[in-house]
Amino acid sequence: MAFPKDFIWGGAVAANQIEGAWNEDGKGPDLSDAVVGIHGVPDLKWNHKTLRWELDLKPGKVYLCHEAIDFYHRFREDIRLLAGMGLKALRISIAWSRIYPTGAEEAPNEKGLKFYDDLLDTLLENKIEPIVTLSHYETPLHLATEYGGWKNRKLLEYWERYIKTIFDRYQGKVRYWITFNEVNNIYKMPYAVAALVNTAPSDFTNPLEGICLKDIYQASHHMLVGTALAVKYGHEKMPEAKIGGMLSLSACATYPCTCRPEDVFGTLQFRRRSLFFGDVMCYGEYPAYMDRIWKEENCEPERSPEDLQLIKENTVDFLSFSYYRSAVYQTGYGMKEDTGGAIGPVNPYLKGCTPKPWSWPVDPIGLRYVCNELTDRYHLPLLVAENGIGLDEEPDEQGQIQDNARKEYVREHLTQLKEAVKDGCKILGYLYWGPIDIVSAGTGEMKKRYGFIYVDRHNDGTGTLERKIKESYWYYKRIIETNGGVLG
Ligand code: BG6
Repeated sequence: MAFPKDFIWGGAVAANQIEGAWNEDGKGPDLSDAVVGIHGVPDLKWNHKTLRWELDLKPGKVYLCHEAIDFYHRFREDIRLLAGMGLKALRISIAWSRIYPTGAEEAPNEKGLKFYDDLLDTLLENKIEPIVTLSHYETPLHLATEYGGWKNRKLLEYWERYIKTIFDRYQGKVRYWITFNEVNNIYKMPYAVAALVNTAPSDFTNPLEGICLKDIYQASHHMLVGTALAVKYGHEKMPEAKIGGMLSLSACATYPCTCRPEDVFGTLQFRRRSLFFGDVMCYGEYPAYMDRIWKEENCEPERSPEDLQLIKENTVDFLSFSYYRSAVYQTGYGMKEDTGGAIGPVNPYLKGCTPKPWSWPVDPIGLRYVCNELTDRYHLPLLVAENGIGLDEEPDEQGQIQDNARKEYVREHLTQLKEAVKDGCKILGYLYWGPIDIVSAGTGEMKKRYGFIYVDRHNDGTGTLERKIKESYWYYKRIIETNGGVLG
C-alpha cells in the first residue's frame, strides 16, 4: 500500500523555459520567443503591406527565454547533476520550431533533430528515462502570424508532419509521450496554448484582441484531433509506447464556497470547462453538456464526421496533469486564472500560501482529491506531470540555499499522493516541476525559482549561469532512494 516498485520519480521542464539558443542551428522563433511571460501581449507589429503580424522585439528589453539557462549548451552537465540525485525520469519538451523552423517546411532541420538525439541519448546513458511532450507552449510563431494559430485547420497538416518526424526519429528511446501541455489552459492563455492571434485585427495594435470563444473551441477541437492523430501514429509506429493527454488540474480542484446549491452547481459547471478535454481524450466522445454551452454562447466548433471517428478510435493511454493549488468558486465572483490555476475567493481553511509576490494557496489534499476524481472518472493510469513551488531565493553568506519551504511542500504533497495510491489510484509517477531553476512561464522571470538546483541568472539577464545544489536536492534524493519511505 505504498508507492509501487517501478514508481517514476522524476522532474519536468519545457524547452522554451530551459534551452535558450532561441535562434541557433536553424531554430525558428516560436510563440514564447515573442513575449516575456505568456500572460503578456506578444511583441508583434502589424505589417500593412503583407497584412501579417511580424516579430517586433524591443531593443533593451530582456527576453529571458532567449538564453534561458542555456541548457542547449550545458545539458550534459545538468543531466549529470540530476542523475546525482537518482532522478529516474525527466519530462522534456521538443521545440517544434527547432525541427520545422516555421512549421511549414517540407523537410526537417537536421541540426534540431541531432540536438534531441544527443539529449535523449545523454539521458538514457545516465539512466534517466525521457518523457516527451510534443508541444509545451511552443508552436512555431509563423503558424500564429500566418494562420492565426490552431483555430485554422491547416495546422493539423503541419502537426502531422512534425509528429511523424519525431516518432520516426526517436522511436525506441521514449516510452511515455504527452501531446499538448495543459490543453485546458486555452481559456486563460489562448496564445500560449493554441498560438491564437487575431489575423483580422481591428486596431492593428494588439494581436490578442478579439479572440473569441468560437476561436477557442475551434482551436480546442483541432488540438483534440491532433491528440488523436498522435495516438494513432504513435501506436502504429511504436506499439510499446504510451501516448497521454495532459491537463492543468489546479482549475479542477475548485471547491464550492458554500453548500448553496448555486455555488455547488456553478462549481460543477466551472470544472466541466476543463474536464471536457479529459472526457474527449479518454472517452473518445464529446460530452453532452458541451452542446448546451456551445448553443447558448454561439460557439460550436466545426467537427467533421471523420474527425469524430478518429477521436473515437484513438483515445489516450494515460492522463497526465499539473497540480499546484486549489481554488474556491462562488457564484457571481468573477473567477480569474493564471498558470497556477483558478483564482476565486480566499479559502480560509488552507494553512497558507507560497511567499509573495506569487502567493499561490498550498493545498496538498487537493492533489489527493484530483487523483481520486480522475480515477473515478476515467479508470486510467495517471502521471503527475508537474507539481512544485516557486520561491525567491539566493545563496546565503556561506553560499548555501536552505530551501526548507520547498522540502515541506514536496513532503506534504507526496504524503497526499501516497494516500491517493492507497485509495487505489494508479499513479505512474511524480515529476517535480523545475528540478533546476528555469524561466517561469507565466511571468517570464528567473526570480521565481522552482529548482533543487540553483542557476545564477537574474531577471535583468545578468548572471554567470553557474549551477549550485540547494538543500532540497538531498531531500528529494532521499525520497527517491527510499521509494518514498522517508515520508513516513
Ligand atoms: C504550468 C506550465 O502551467 O505551470 C509550466 O506547464 C509553468 O510551463 C508552471 O512553468 C508554473 O507556472 P509559472 O508561471 O510559475 O512558471
